[in-house]
Amino acid sequence: MKHYILALDQGTTSSRAILFDHDGHVAHCVAQEFPQHFPQPGWVEHDADDIWSSQLAVAQAVLRDAHVRPEQVRAIGIANQRETTVLWERATGRPVAPAIVWQDRRTADHCDALRAAGHADFIRERTGLELDAYFSATKLAWLLDHVPGARERAERGELCFGTVDSWLAYRLCGAHVTDVSNASRTMLFNIHLMRWDADLLALFRIPDALLPDVVSSSGEIGATHADLFGAPIPVAGIAGDQQAATFGQACHRAGMVKNTYGTGCFMLMHAGAQPAVSHQRLLSTVGWRVHTGECYLLEGSVFMGGATVQWLRDGLGIIKASSDVEPLAASVPDSGGVMLVPAFVGLGAPHWDPYARGTIVGLTRGSTAAHIARAAVEAIAYQSAELLGAMQRDAAQPVVEVRADGGAARNDLLMQFQADLLGVPVLRPRVTETTALGAAYLAGLAVRFWASEEEIAAQWQCERRFEPAMPEGRRAELLARWSRAVERAKSWEA
Ligand code: G3P
Repeated sequence: MKHYILALDQGTTSSRAILFDHDGHVAHCVAQEFPQHFPQPGWVEHDADDIWSSQLAVAQAVLRDAHVRPEQVRAIGIANQRETTVLWERATGRPVAPAIVWQDRRTADHCDALRAAGHADFIRERTGLELDAYFSATKLAWLLDHVPGARERAERGELCFGTVDSWLAYRLCGAHVTDVSNASRTMLFNIHLMRWDADLLALFRIPDALLPDVVSSSGEIGATHADLFGAPIPVAGIAGDQQAATFGQACHRAGMVKNTYGTGCFMLMHAGAQPAVSHQRLLSTVGWRVHTGECYLLEGSVFMGGATVQWLRDGLGIIKASSDVEPLAASVPDSGGVMLVPAFVGLGAPHWDPYARGTIVGLTRGSTAAHIARAAVEAIAYQSAELLGAMQRDAAQPVVEVRADGGAARNDLLMQFQADLLGVPVLRPRVTETTALGAAYLAGLAVRFWASEEEIAAQWQCERRFEPAMPEGRRAELLARWSRAVERAKSWEA
């Protein structure tokens, strides 16, 4: 009987379920997009029940379609969109409000007030994070202040807070837990002591009765309710999607870097056994905790990556399917001087400007939909290049290569332009579903499906290597032009 690990990759715009075999190959994959809600400018919400029902549907479908019985699944691993804040009733599992998505900017003024009161350094020191609406703390505070009765009910222990990992774990097996990597994105977690921080809870006015227990990223937390899959399956791995992707890319040693092209773009560098201190406004975050110990990562977060292409499809309507972007962008030799700064939900690292907004500059009478598509694709690469620049300035040793993954990593045009702008090779692995693979590895290590990190690292294979080919002068010129465009997008709403 062949055995598998089932990875649940709950992302911002889609839920995916992937079965991996012992060689780390994708045996079967089912994905489903789910609705996004934008009730006001700068707000982004999900219905937590949509998150759960889409995730359950794809998990059931992948087993059914692949003719795999639950007994053949050794464990489930969860990777999830991070920071998105869910609040639900402990007794019924019913969400008490829409989930506030990581991209949501409604609490920017709360962050401003905390900054004005001088709390930013203290928060960075304890959490490794920049004071920003991106993280869960102000989102949770907002829910407690705006959902009628929520604060009182929270104090009585009637409600549960969780990021999406907690929410899924709760629905899958009734455990109220989160792993160290997800906890480190809440802005309530002390990354040095690896526990919820009482001073931060007081600062954000969060009752501790709401909080999940913090667990390792690799280890059994329970088994799924038998009715979900026909027999219980152990849930044995949890990590935030970006940490999971770093693990799945086998970036197990200090200095190794991966960049994931998902809804956003997230560049992470393994920083070793101690939190890194950034002087470039990058984030210091927990990587994972496995049986051999824990590690930290340095992260640059870009809020709009593939979501920019989604906007071309759903907002602007110049493409029908996301995959149409590559031929449209490739139909022109360059962007014709057009630059698109996708600051639709503000700017993340290294700018941290919640008031920046999307901007298109350089339009002429000759500009076409193809130039805009090309500029949108290139914007993904420009933003990532800014992150690597910041990382290079922070890091002890130079970064020699970047491992790429996520949906848009399949776009050759983007990968080549990315290598050109970074000035270092970009390596695309055989498996680009690296987020799910990382969650599978974490779960598989816990149940001894795989024996060690070394065994996992040996499975990593490069499918294609993109070498930088752009002359240095041209590269510098383009990056300088990008910086000028970014300056125009900044502080638009302020
Ligand atoms: O921090 C947000 C991140 O976890 C979202 O990931 O894959 O949905 O873009 P993704």
